[in-house]
Amino acid sequence: MNFHIMTLFPEMIEQILSTSILGRAIDKGHISFEAVNIRDYSNDNKHHKVDDYTYGGGAGMLMQAQPIYDCYKAIEAGIKEKTDTTPRVIYVTPQGKVFDQKIAQELSKEEDLVFLCGHYEGVDERVLEEIVTDYISIGDYVLTGGELPATVMIDAIARLVPGVLNNDESAMTESFSNNLLEYPQYSRPEEWMGKKVPPILLSGDHKKVDEWRLEQAIIRTKERRPDLYEKYIEENPPKPPKKPRRKKKNPEPEQNI
Ligand code: ADE
Repeated sequence: MNFHIMTLFPEMIEQILSTSILGRAIDKGHISFEAVNIRDYSNDNKHHKVDDYTYGGGAGMLMQAQPIYDCYKAIEAGIKEKTDTTPRVIYVTPQGKVFDQKIAQELSKEEDLVFLCGHYEGVDERVLEEIVTDYISIGDYVLTGGELPATVMIDAIARLVPGVLNNDESAMTESFSNNLLEYPQYSRPEEWMGKKVPPILLSGDHKKVDEWRLEQAIIRTKERRPDLYEKYIEENPPKPPKKPRRKKKNPEPEQNI
């Protein structure tokens, strides 16, 4: 999978994405990324200006349409040459749909994804109308630019690409994939600061361990994320209780002992 990020600060993106697990995944060829500097597409050859005042007044500067559009067209041309498809283009903005695991899963199926990172007071609406397919936010708070949200989304998406994590399975069993938070986990020693590892985890009985973990995940989700717990219960309604055994017609009189 290939990530293409349109940004004014490519070094911010490069620093984050080339480190740790994503860096290893790039070396192995599971994913790639290019951080493209929008400034390189400015028509202002002298100062490489990419922003200007807002029509109608208002504080701050707006990113202009032309450099972003030309930057996008260059990226799109590269992708089209390879795959003959037009990519999804994500504008990271607090005005978007809030990013979650389901969106990460959906986007991880794409071959190419383009991200547009905004700065200043925003972006000229006309270029957004022209190129953006998805408006996505990482939460209801405002950051100074789109680079951090873009890298947050890329991290969450990339780890779902086959081969990126060592163990494919770990992507499936963690928090959120079934609307449950992850169960508590323990490592050595068996006792630390007087706290013991739950004995069931030392029992070697895998079925019991799985049951315990599911139970703990449900308890934890109910306590910490009641909103998620509701979703879980909707999708996994509790089994109806077993029918009580019918009473005998002439029960023997109860004996008081
Ligand atoms: N840009 C600034 N704040 C943001 C947010 N919360 N999500 C996505 N992009 C942003």
